[in-house]
Formats: sequence, structure tokens, C-alpha cells
Amino acid sequence: MRLARDLEHRPKADEDADGFEADIIAGLSAHPKTTPPKYFYDEAGSALFEEICGTPEYYVTRAETALLQSVVHELVSSIAADAVLVEFGSGASDKTRLILDAAPHIGTYVPIDISPDALQRAAERISRDYPALRVAPLADDFTRAVALPAHVGHAPRVGFFPGSTIGNFAPQEAIWFLRSVRSLLGVRAQLIIGVDMIKDPARLVAAYDDSMSVTARFNKNLLARINRELRGDFDLDAFDHQAIWNPTLERMEMHLVSRFDQLVHVAGHGFAFKAGERLHTESSHKFSVESFKALAVSAGWVIDRYWLSSNPEFAIFSLTAPA
Ligand code: AVJ
Repeated sequence: MRLARDLEHRPKADEDADGFEADIIAGLSAHPKTTPPKYFYDEAGSALFEEICGTPEYYVTRAETALLQSVVHELVSSIAADAVLVEFGSGASDKTRLILDAAPHIGTYVPIDISPDALQRAAERISRDYPALRVAPLADDFTRAVALPAHVGHAPRVGFFPGSTIGNFAPQEAIWFLRSVRSLLGVRAQLIIGVDMIKDPARLVAAYDDSMSVTARFNKNLLARINRELRGDFDLDAFDHQAIWNPTLERMEMHLVSRFDQLVHVAGHGFAFKAGERLHTESSHKFSVESFKALAVSAGWVIDRYWLSSNPEFAIFSLTAPA
């Protein structure tokens, strides 16, 4: 095993817990009530997300994997020897293998993920299957990764941000994030980013409200996590999962809708829900080629190339940081 070190875990465990509590209390106090999507990904939530990727309705992962497979050789053609591949929100690191297989000259892999156990398992499997690769996992909220591990040095950098996770940010936040990635990776870096396209709302809604209710369980798992970690008393059966397409903001939204008037407690605070009141748990923005280009350019990236799957369903962009 060549894990460069044991999992580098920047925040202290109690800072993490405090951040969770403060964010949830603030979100439940807001109007409308809202919670940050990054808290979906505890152990159970990460496993449920992997299960979502296997549902017939959630086309995103399959569309991206197929597109990546067909363009990966072009995509990696400019990656320099000994480059560092930095992945934001690496999860199970499945798509990464396509890049590592096509570019065996990559020297270091830095997977960043908020779920420490899923990250550790993925990093160990990658290490085992790519023995020559140096693997340096970073357990953190990827928006807070402001420095790469010191041993990465001045090797050329390639960022990888698949899954259309960029869509979880509001447009202005997405620009801030893409800017911070640009300064993290440095001049002449490449960023490979997967972007889900605007499409038939019925397909979008089905993808976020699958018939086996895996996505509903993923959504409600947040309430279970709050109950367990923040002394909450949410009744999971007292909320309905809802997925809606917001055409004005060009995004899918997930909500949890209160079935009746109720009072919920979290960490000693009381929160009243009216019947039909919604807790907004996630937005997944969808893009056109033009809207994504505009976003990337606002963040100071240069559009190198992009590839579209048929319809077009999904896009992979290769961006470069100007010198
Ligand atoms: C992993 C954030 C890209 O927004 O489509 C899947 C998460 N939410 N089903 C997405 C998710 C509901 C997913 N991302």
C-alpha cells in the first residue's frame, strides 16, 4: 500500500460536529427552511447515493460514465507526466479509474471527500489497483480544501469534478468555488468537469423521485442523521419526499414536506412546521452549453474543449487556467 499518509483530516472532530449543529439550526430557523446538501453524506447517506446511481431513473452517473469512456483519450491527451489528479467529492472513485487507466503517467491522486470512511475505502482500493500511484486522500468538505498536501510540490495539476455536483451550488457560489479551485490548482491547470444538461422536466423529476424510493430514503436520511447526532426528534413518516423542477432557476429541487402541523426539536431548539410547509434540502442546477460556459468564464477559466452525449443529456468540459 502506498497511501501517502493516513487519511489527512483537517477539521477536528468536534469542529465538524459544531459546524453541523450551527448549520442545521440556522437552516431550520430560516424562511423558507433549508439545509445544506453536504450533510447528506454520512455513512448511510453515501451508501444510499451509490444506490441512487443504480436506479433506472437516475441517468446522470450512467450518462457521464459512458461519455467519459468515449472521450477519455482525448481528455487526457495533454496531461503531463507525473501530474497530480485532484478530485472534488470523490465518493467511490469509480469514474476516476477511467482517467487513471487512460493516463497511467499520472503520479499522484488526491481524492477529497466529506465522508471519511467511504474515502478511506475508496483510497485503499485505488492504491491496491494502481500500485505505482501515490494516493493522498483528504477528508474534508471539498469547498474548504485550500491547500494540497505539501509533497505534491510543483507537479502539473489536473482537477476532476464529476457528477454535476457543481449543480448543488447557487450560480454565485459556483463561481466562487470555481475561482478557488483555480487558485488551488494554479496557472495552466486543467479542470475536467461533468455538467448535467437541462432536459425534459418529466425525466428530471423521475431521476430525483425514483419508483423504488431510494432518493426519498436518501433525502430522509438527513433527518435520521439529525436525530442521531443532534438530539433531534424528527418523525421520518411525518414528512413526504418531493422533487420539483424549477424552470425559472433551471434547477431540480428536493424538499421534505410536513404532512401536518408539528413541532420538532433539534439540539434543544423547537421548530414549528405547518402542514404542507417545506424543508428545502437540495438544489441541482442544470445547464445549457451557453450557461455553463458563462459560469466558467466568470470564474476566470478558459474553455478548452467540451463533449456532449446525445440529446444532449450530459456534458464534460475541459477548462484551463490562464497563465
Ligand atoms: C451527487 C450532488 C450530483 O444533485 O444529482 C442525487 C445528488 N441528489 N439524487 C445530484 C443527488 C438526489 C447528486 N449529486
